[in-house]
Amino acid sequence: MDYSLKGQKLVNMRILVTGGAGVIGSNLVKMIPGEITVIDNLSSSTIDPIKELIDSEKIKFIKGDILDFELLRKITKGIDLIIHLAANADVRYYPEKNTYVDFKVNTIGTYNIMESMRLNDVKNIIFSSHHLFMVMRIKYLLQRTMAH
Ligand SMILES: NC(=O)c1ccc[n+]([C@@H]2O[C@H](COP(=O)([O-])OP(=O)(O)OC[C@H]3O[C@@H](n4cnc5c(N)ncnc54)[C@H](O)[C@@H]3O)[C@@H](O)[C@H]2O)c1
Repeated sequence: MDYSLKGQKLVNMRILVTGGAGVIGSNLVKMIPGEITVIDNLSSSTIDPIKELIDSEKIKFIKGDILDFELLRKITKGIDLIIHLAANADVRYYPEKNTYVDFKVNTIGTYNIMESMRLNDVKNIIFSSHHLFMVMRIKYLLQRTMAH
């Protein structure tokens, strides 16, 4: 497939995929062209789904954390596109859950990505939010529409 973004072909891009060992990321890196680097701390995944791609040097893998700002700042240099999928995807509340970890990774981690983009002049990001936010946004928009 000949994917492109804003007229630039992905095959010519340097792409950083955060959370690239996860469910979406590991499938995505098998599909898209480009010079791909994955950063993942493997907190909720394993290397297995992308091991073949790493071994055959189709992608570069960095075991690292998006909370490590200095690391992010280093590896986002020269990147054309960030596909940001690193997250604690299971943010559903239950009493024993440590929600502070969710907050840190999903909020501060995302801030770290955007701040390193700003400092290194990275122009493009694709970000997949949790469907929960979409539901909340749709409900909010519906309420606003019905109020007018
Ligand atoms: N799977 C779905 O159906 C779906 C649908 C809509 C949106 N999303 C969103 O897409 C994103 C990815 O979803 P997924 O299903 O692939 O989740 P996933 O849990 O399979 O993948 C997330 C990856 O991020 C990594 N990770 C977690 N914390 C990290 C950190 N601090 N530093 C580096 N890596 C870290 C995990 O090890 C894992 O490999 C999430 O934001 C999720 O909410 C998923």
